[in-house]
Amino acid sequence: MRDAYIVSAVRTPGCRRNKGALSQTRPEDLLVQALDKAIEKAGVEKSEIDDVMIGCSFPEAEQGLNIGRVAAQMAKFPDEVGGATVNRFCASGLESIAQSAMRVMVGWSDVVMAGGVEHMSIVPMGGNMPRPHPDWTRENPEVYTSMGITAENVATRYKITREMQDEFAYHSQMKAVNAQKNGLYGEIFPTNAHRFVEKSDGTVVRETFVQNFDDGVRDTTTIAGLGKLRPVFSATGSVTAGNSSQTTDGAAASVIMCKEAVEKFGVKPIAKLVCYTTVGCRADEMGVGPAYSIPKLLKLVKMDIKDIGLFEINEAFASQAIYCAQQIGISDIKEWSSESSTRRLNINGGAIALGHPLGCTGSKLAATLLYNMQQKGVKYGIEAMCMGGGMGAAALFELCE
Ligand SMILES: CC(C)(COP(=O)(O)OP(=O)(O)OC[C@H]1O[C@@H](n2cnc3c(N)ncnc32)[C@H](O)[C@@H]1OP(=O)(O)O)[C@@H](O)C(=O)NCCC(=O)NCCS
Repeated sequence: MRDAYIVSAVRTPGCRRNKGALSQTRPEDLLVQALDKAIEKAGVEKSEIDDVMIGCSFPEAEQGLNIGRVAAQMAKFPDEVGGATVNRFCASGLESIAQSAMRVMVGWSDVVMAGGVEHMSIVPMGGNMPRPHPDWTRENPEVYTSMGITAENVATRYKITREMQDEFAYHSQMKAVNAQKNGLYGEIFPTNAHRFVEKSDGTVVRETFVQNFDDGVRDTTTIAGLGKLRPVFSATGSVTAGNSSQTTDGAAASVIMCKEAVEKFGVKPIAKLVCYTTVGCRADEMGVGPAYSIPKLLKLVKMDIKDIGLFEINEAFASQAIYCAQQIGISDIKEWSSESSTRRLNINGGAIALGHPLGCTGSKLAATLLYNMQQKGVKYGIEAMCMGGGMGAAALFELCE
């Protein structure tokens, strides 16, 4: 089997649903820019791409109608370049990387683009018109459980206290604050965004501006402040707006190719995708997914948790992120604290601070992980996340020398 090399991986900033900088910019416009930037960084022609596979969790409305194909056409890829939408909820962006890599590995494609997009300002979580099966749901409501309630279930069942969640959330914010201050998000490209502004004569004009930072990061966060927030999903619960992932708009993309293409185009690859796996778990505690997918991944590649230099585990909620860290053996505060210089987990913050644009997240976290692996010279990095419906995904990347 051939190797699949990721030669470029970029992302837009992640910006807050409705209140943030990208809320009035269409998802196609975000994705087109991500595709263009990834192509530019890879230094290949669009005609060399075999297919464009884009993750999206709720592919409807402005991000519907096969956003992969629409965006490829909008980005002026030749007609011969295909496009697909890939959906595995919060792992969609990672699934798109894995499916693209597998095409390369078996020899069906030489160069493929992967990516993800989610515009949660336009398409809310659950979609615009969810229609659970009425008969089946009556007996089996679990698969439709609200994500917040699944986080409450994890907290209750596995004794992840409110204090633990708030402490974890605080460090996520502080890591992000520090990273912004020190310019550590090299995977972000300055993104053209639009806003509609009402003029004094009552007319509305569309203005363009550049957004180059994640706008959900709160440098004013304190543990005491987090402790005052009311639970949002259950009156007696512990999951709040401060210890949940933020709902966000964003896009990301990467170029993946075989060794022959790397040599032909004279590209310097960033990393290889070594292995990808998924696993199911109980839907009403879907956040525990990475506690199963990461050990499964390590078993497949015959490696140990101590062999891994960096982890990007999506912070859907602090409760599930803490539980997963506990289960895989990286829950010591030194592994994730903003004050620890040896931390391995979400070293520059996670979705609690940076946001979680559902179908984009897998692709976004890959860009972040690969950039961090390059900066730190880390050989092996794992990306993992949970998914609605009860699943975990995990991928192992190996840095190229
Ligand atoms: C939890 C949730 C409902 C909160 O939504 P929201 O009310 O729009 O959240 P916001 O980020 O706007 O925060 C609301 C308020 O909480 C407070 N707050 C949030 N984070 C805070 C922090 N770190 N410190 C202090 N206060 C904070 C603020 O008062 C904020 O209001 P403001 O923005 O006007 O200052 C939403 O983020 C959510 O659904 N998250 C989970 C998403 C999810 O399930 N994803 C899929 C996972 S599988």
